[in-house]
Amino acid sequence: MGKILIDCDPGIDDSLALMLAISSPELEIAGITTVSGNVPAQMGGENARKVLKQMNRMDIPIYIGEKVPLSKPYVDAMDTHGRDGLGESFLPAVPGEFPEKHAVDFLEESLEREKMSILALGPMTNLARLFKRRPDLIDQVEELVSMGGSFKSHGNCSPVAEYNYWCDPEAAAFCYEQFAQAGRKIHMIGLDVTRRIVLTPNLLSYMERLDPETGAFIRKITGFYLDFHWEYEGIIGCVINDPLAAAYLVDHSFCCGFDSYTAVETEGICRGQTVVDSMNFWKKAPNSHVLIETDPKEFMYFFLSRVLKKKDGGQWNKEELSLLETLVQG
Ligand code: RIB
Ligand code: CA
Repeated sequence: MGKILIDCDPGIDDSLALMLAISSPELEIAGITTVSGNVPAQMGGENARKVLKQMNRMDIPIYIGEKVPLSKPYVDAMDTHGRDGLGESFLPAVPGEFPEKHAVDFLEESLEREKMSILALGPMTNLARLFKRRPDLIDQVEELVSMGGSFKSHGNCSPVAEYNYWCDPEAAAFCYEQFAQAGRKIHMIGLDVTRRIVLTPNLLSYMERLDPETGAFIRKITGFYLDFHWEYEGIIGCVINDPLAAAYLVDHSFCCGFDSYTAVETEGICRGQTVVDSMNFWKKAPNSHVLIETDPKEFMYFFLSRVLKKKDGGQWNKEELSLLETLVQG
């Protein structure tokens, strides 16, 4: 896989995705950039630093990005992620300054230097700013894997829209259009697949049994999220969207889908909706690879085997995690 850039808005599920990416040797993380989404970009940087400290990877640089969407008023998702963006765990701040350099400048310099993949886990504001400034750098993007959008699943912040693309629809629309013009495809990890990835109380307990320290950290940041999902989605558990995008970047076999032209609506009641032309009415070349199938059990085997550690620092193999056969639905 090689070097990657992670653009995110941590955020509870972003944090779990960071933990998975850091635990995956296939990914060499060149840097983390934050964007206003779940929480303001600055708070996202502070939360990303808390995750890096937990993972003992303070060597990974974090750059703060765009504070507001391209044109829409900024609306955060603290109702879902808590006032601190980490489930009101209020983990101690990790001291230290962030680089003066803006996230978009870091992204530009990185891609100018070499081809890298981008794991986009928040609104696409930083990426839109980058490609507005330097559309030529799209050719330097090995793969753009974006958690966002939805093909046939209902929205999570409107009947039809997923939050990342709803929060900054102009940015998402621009990126998909730019990729169309460049003859490239964005890998769209939308709600069709991420809704299948549910972290349940039993899974949390299992994680704590296997690796008390890491399990306790995950429980600390997801408790609030569990309450939110019971209240607003009537489920026992919480949908963890972003880690699936990280798993897919490591190994595409975690999801399958199809190529299509996709546009993003920017106005009106369908703001943020991804209009996936699966029947090719518009006869436009595909600019997206839309993922629609996944195997939650395979994902959970991967997530637990990578993120949790044995007392001797080793990893559990699939046979040792066989309880997942009964703990994971679907
Ligand atoms: O709609 C879910 C997405 O929006 C996730 O990336 C979540 O972290 C929020 O950014
Ligand atoms: Ca996110």
